[in-house]
Amino acid sequence: MKALILYSGRDGQTLSIASYIASKLQDRLRCEVIDLLQAENVDLSQYQQVMIGASIHYGHFNSALDKFVKHRAEQLNQMPSAFFAVNLTARKPEKRLPQTNVYTRKFLLASPWQPKQCMVFAGSLRYPRYRWFDRIMIQFIMCMTGGQTDTSKEVEYTDWQQVERFAQEFSQIKYEKRPKFVTFTPFA
Ligand SMILES: Cc1cc2nc3c(=O)[nH]c(=O)nc-3n(C[C@H](O)[C@H](O)[C@H](O)COP(=O)(O)O)c2cc1C
Repeated sequence: MKALILYSGRDGQTLSIASYIASKLQDRLRCEVIDLLQAENVDLSQYQQVMIGASIHYGHFNSALDKFVKHRAEQLNQMPSAFFAVNLTARKPEKRLPQTNVYTRKFLLASPWQPKQCMVFAGSLRYPRYRWFDRIMIQFIMCMTGGQTDTSKEVEYTDWQQVERFAQEFSQIKYEKRPKFVTFTPFA
C-alpha cells in the first residue's frame, strides 16, 4: 500500500509534521512526502491513501491548497483521505479541533473535498528566523493573545503525541466503496 503526504508550509514545521507522520506509518504504508507546490502533476491513482497538511500565514493557507483541492476534489473524495492544519492559534488546546479552529472550520466549510479525517496541530514560533516585519507582526499578535513575546526565543508547541495518534488513525481509515449504480431486482 502506498500513501501520499502533501505539505504546504514556509518555515519547516508542516514538513516536520508530515515527515514524522510518514515515519510512524512506515510499518504499514509506503509513504511519499511531497511539497504541495511541486504536486501539480502528481498522479493520485498511484496511491491508495492521501493526506494534505498546510500551515497558516496571516490568516490564510497557501492559495496552492485551494487550487489543488478544487482541481482534484472528485478523486480525493473517492480515496481514504486526511487533512491537517498547522497554526499558532492551536497552541491553545481548545483551538485544536477542526470545529474550534477558525481557519480549519472555514476551509472545511468551503472545500469541495471532504477529508475522512481532519486535525489541527499547534505549530512553532521561531522569532530569530523571521524577517524583521514578520517578527514585529507576530510579536504584536502574541502580545494581544497572551503568548511568547521574547524575540530571542524559538518555541515548538506541536504535541507530537497528538500527531502520532493522528498517524495511527490514518493507517486505519478505510474507504467504504459505494456502488456507482444500484440495480434493483425486486424478485431476485
Ligand atoms: C509571518 C507569519 C504569519 C503567521 N500568521 C499566523 C496566523 O495568522 N494565525 C496563526 O494561528 N498562526 C500564524 N502563524 C504561525 C504559523 O502558522 C506557525 O508558525 C506554523 O508552525 C508555520 O508552519 P510552517 O513552518 O510549516 O510554515 C504565522 C507565522 C508567521 C511566520
